[in-house]
Amino acid sequence: MAVKSRVLIVGGTGYVGKRMVKASLAQGHTTYVLRRREIGLDIDKLQMLLSFKAQGAHLIEGSFSDHQSLVDAVKQVDVVICTMSGVHFRSHNLMLQLQLVQAIKEAGNVKRFLPSEFGIDPARMADALEPGRVTFDEKMIVRKAIEDAGIPFTYISANCFAGYFAGSLSQMGTLIPSTDKVCLYGDGNVKAVYMDEDDIATYAIKTIDDPRTLNKTVYLRPPENILSQRELVGLWEKLIRKELEKSSISAEEFLAIMKGLNFAEQVGIGHFYHIFFDGCLTNFEIGEGGEEASKLYPEVQYTRMHEYLKRYL
Ligand SMILES: NC(=O)c1ccc[n+]([C@@H]2O[C@H](COP(=O)([O-])OP(=O)(O)OC[C@H]3O[C@@H](n4cnc5c(N)ncnc54)[C@H](OP(=O)(O)O)[C@@H]3O)[C@@H](O)[C@H]2O)c1
Repeated sequence: MAVKSRVLIVGGTGYVGKRMVKASLAQGHTTYVLRRREIGLDIDKLQMLLSFKAQGAHLIEGSFSDHQSLVDAVKQVDVVICTMSGVHFRSHNLMLQLQLVQAIKEAGNVKRFLPSEFGIDPARMADALEPGRVTFDEKMIVRKAIEDAGIPFTYISANCFAGYFAGSLSQMGTLIPSTDKVCLYGDGNVKAVYMDEDDIATYAIKTIDDPRTLNKTVYLRPPENILSQRELVGLWEKLIRKELEKSSISAEEFLAIMKGLNFAEQVGIGHFYHIFFDGCLTNFEIGEGGEEASKLYPEVQYTRMHEYLKRYL
């Protein structure tokens, strides 16, 4: 059997990161997690890191304020997965990711890098609306740095995290499914893709030693999780045995909400608009340069959304 890669997770205590640590250990990889010096007195982060260690992970101390510590950390592994936070850290996150790319370039030993993507494919969002396009533009800057440095990569396009998009029935401003009413985007029939976050990590880890995913974008688009908002609501209605009262909002009305919102909310509106009105997750065929995860790994029993939603009952 081929030797499994050693994996370093940067951002391991985060929402996606902790699942990546779990999946990496579960799939038998020697797993390292960056323990940033800056966490200081954050007892929850420290306890989580210690729990990773108890499960078999190795903690590597390092800091983005000490570049050599990043290079040294990277030198110990074959694969680096970055799960640092997204839009709310904006340009700060961009600079940190670029610094990590530089460390990987200097270390010179990494066989695969997964940058912090895990969403809409930024390469398809060249015409995205302001200000939400910042997310895609920044991810493309990181991609360019990776590719200019000749670092082998896999980009994971994870579509909609179920915790944000399915539990809420894709409503903004809530994480819990309503039991009385829901607002549909337009006719509610545009197809999105909803993904259990643990499955995202399982698929991502599957790609790292797979030659089929080298220098490719892997789209997580398992067929039964390609659902319109209306279909998602239908699954919930079946579970609660009740029909929700439905209203609808047009694209123009939805975009008009943006005025008066703060920056992060405006970014969110843009992303929702592209997903639920444009259909940006499903309005293209995966062509050359891309692979679909459930086709590559049919053995993964991915979570269907009627199962996922049961946790809210
Ligand atoms: N498709 C979707 O629906 C969706 C939803 C949410 C997020 N995402 C994407 O998933 C990726 C990960 O997001 P997330 O929500 O998991 O992130 P998160 O939980 O907000 O943060 C992840 C980690 O980022 C690191 N971090 C935060 N601030 C930092 C700083 N100043 N310096 C260094 N490290 C810092 C921390 O790592 P430590 O462990 O080192 O402390 C933190 O645990 C992002 O690219 C995001 O765009 C996609």
